[in-house]
Amino acid sequence: MNETELRRIDRTVKQWLHMSREFILTKMQQNLKVATKTSRKDLVTNVDKENEKFIINKIRAFAPDSQILGEEGFGDQVKSTKGLVWVVDPIDGTMNFVKQRDHFAIMIALYVDGQGVLGYIYDVMGDELLSGGPETGVFQNDEPLVAPENINLRDGLVSVSGPMVVHDYRNFQKIADASSGLRIYGSAGIEMIHLLKGEIVAYVSYLKPWDFGAGKILAESLGLKVTTVDGKPLDMLSSDFVMVATVKAQQDILPIIGSNV
Ligand code: IPD
Ligand code: CA
Ligand code: CA
Ligand code: CA
Repeated sequence: MNETELRRIDRTVKQWLHMSREFILTKMQQNLKVATKTSRKDLVTNVDKENEKFIINKIRAFAPDSQILGEEGFGDQVKSTKGLVWVVDPIDGTMNFVKQRDHFAIMIALYVDGQGVLGYIYDVMGDELLSGGPETGVFQNDEPLVAPENINLRDGLVSVSGPMVVHDYRNFQKIADASSGLRIYGSAGIEMIHLLKGEIVAYVSYLKPWDFGAGKILAESLGLKVTTVDGKPLDMLSSDFVMVATVKAQQDILPIIGSNV
């Protein structure tokens, strides 16, 4: 994809994201319709669904030949990574959205033939957009983002999803203990933003493609490692235990995780 085309897509996706944010802020002034999905800890609202439909309609009008992988099911059954594949999480951190009305994100990613091209994570209440990819570089709103320092586990904060700690999955308590401290933000997108800005050195969680699609592109563009918790490559169409970390923190974490296999 040439530079002009990339810029055109980037400008367009940013317009959708700003409209999508306004839509969510308006909807937040009304009563939310909250339903459970797989369990009482897995919520969905009318806003998740309506916002996904909004973004998917925009993508279909802009690039009709695309495949779209969306969390709430309004996209396609994507079986192959061929061509343009968009990955959409209309609200990441729905539990935070419902309980806190804060700390949630809109995420969009564009892959071409399986390669990450552009990723977007928009912290809605903070009005902070992380965007970009390997060709464009990464931006925090309009400012270029400097790659985070390659800090080791001992000298950095780690973040994780709640269940990983509660169930001590793959020695996670030891990993937290070996770090400078543990943080749990409750939104993969918000955790990724902290990583991209160098505020934490690793994030480990069981994630679905729409949870990691955008973050993977942004993190790899800044030299961070995005793999399974065993250090293997991710399949962008499958769910997995995912680790995003600085090169040093990944090297520190792998042996601790490996010791519990
Ligand atoms: C969830 C959040 C959460 C993570 C879950 C995700 P959702 O996304 O990112 O932090 O631990 O695995 O499913 O469902 O709120 O979009
Ligand atoms: Ca969800
Ligand atoms: Ca999500
Ligand atoms: Ca979601």
